[in-house]
Amino acid sequence: MTIIVTGGAGFIGSNFIFHMLKKYRDYRIICLDKLTYAGNLSTLKDVMDNPHFRFVKADICDRNAVEKLFEEEKPNIVVNFAAESHVDRSIETPEIFLQTNIIGTAVLMDTCRKYGIQRYHQVSTDEVYGDLPLDRPDLFFTETTPLHTSSPYSSSKAGADLLVLAYYRTYGLPVTISRCSNNYGPYHFPEKLIPLMIANALNDKPLPVYGEGINVRDWLYVEDHCKAIDLIIHNGNVGEVYNVGGHNEMRNIDIVKLICKELGKSESLITFVKDRKGHDMRYAIDPTKIHQELGWLPETKFQDGIKKTIRWYLENRQWWEEIVSGEYRNYYEKMYGNR
Ligand code: NAD
Ligand code: DAU
Repeated sequence: MTIIVTGGAGFIGSNFIFHMLKKYRDYRIICLDKLTYAGNLSTLKDVMDNPHFRFVKADICDRNAVEKLFEEEKPNIVVNFAAESHVDRSIETPEIFLQTNIIGTAVLMDTCRKYGIQRYHQVSTDEVYGDLPLDRPDLFFTETTPLHTSSPYSSSKAGADLLVLAYYRTYGLPVTISRCSNNYGPYHFPEKLIPLMIANALNDKPLPVYGEGINVRDWLYVEDHCKAIDLIIHNGNVGEVYNVGGHNEMRNIDIVKLICKELGKSESLITFVKDRKGHDMRYAIDPTKIHQELGWLPETKFQDGIKKTIRWYLENRQWWEEIVSGEYRNYYEKMYGNR
């Protein structure tokens, strides 16, 4: 079995590669990644010499490069993690999100059609459903909830999802889609809430909470997401969408306070800053379908996962310090300098 994993030098893709190489000793895993600001080769250093692994630097929008790789590797499965993934960046520069997240998806699927594939899997997000009101805790996103996006990022992901389903209906491409809630864990890029707060707290810097900090996210440990995708590509039904989430809703402010507590830092570091434009209030996944059809259940409880994650950032300071001391400083100044 040969699997192309796009975006495998990023947060979830790298964790997926580690999971697959460990579990399926005879599979060949090819990582195709453009190495944008979010991709990091040092993340993959432990698998670089694995004879079952190959890294290829390429853009999913580059048709020639993608076709060349298909000719060389004749993959059975493609799992597409490659994306521009940060909502705040999409508000500043939408176009690259349309390019990578929509055009890139089309190029990958065209190539799958041309060379043949057993499965094309699209890693999507719960953000395609928009948001839920805070005063209706009885409401959850199911696979039939209408798409109703808020940001250029989520709109580009929804556009890609529609295209994936169109390739299934029009061309019979054997596709599946997963829509997962917020992930956390090792190798999470420090522009996102949890790693940003851990890194800032460790450096005794202000902890910038948007608005009042009452927005709710549904957090899942990254390994549980990887296991869900593993199940879907092997046992999921073609043409289907699977929601992935562990019923673990938390307010941003409570997460930040918890990080302060775990690190022994004062809550006085917390600074309320101007809200994100179009900020989604609440995400909450109903994972009944993937549980009933594929037997998936989350394994890591949040109280254990967050401790493991904080320990990882303490033990791998070099990984994130290299990031936050580079180009990231300009990004940080632009986003938070005058906020
Ligand atoms: P990430 O930003 O950490 O990583 C993205 C990776 O894609 C990077 O390695 C980057 O170099 C690569 N990439 C970007 N543009 C590319 C291109 N044009 N060609 C090839 N490679 C390219 O993202 P992540 O958080 O790991 O998310 C992975 C996927 O999962 C995304 O599709 C995202 O929408 C989805 N998702 C993320 C979450 C989450 O909480 N992080 C939750 C649900 C779904
Ligand atoms: O739900 C899945 C999505 O989760 C994925 O599709 C996205 O790729 C991923 O980035 C994530 O999107 P969010 O916007 O929910 O994640 P982020 O970490 O950027 O923000 C989480 C919450 O924390 C959100 O309500 C905004 C808030 N926040 C974020 C940052 C970076 C702050 O209050 N302060 C911050 O500095």
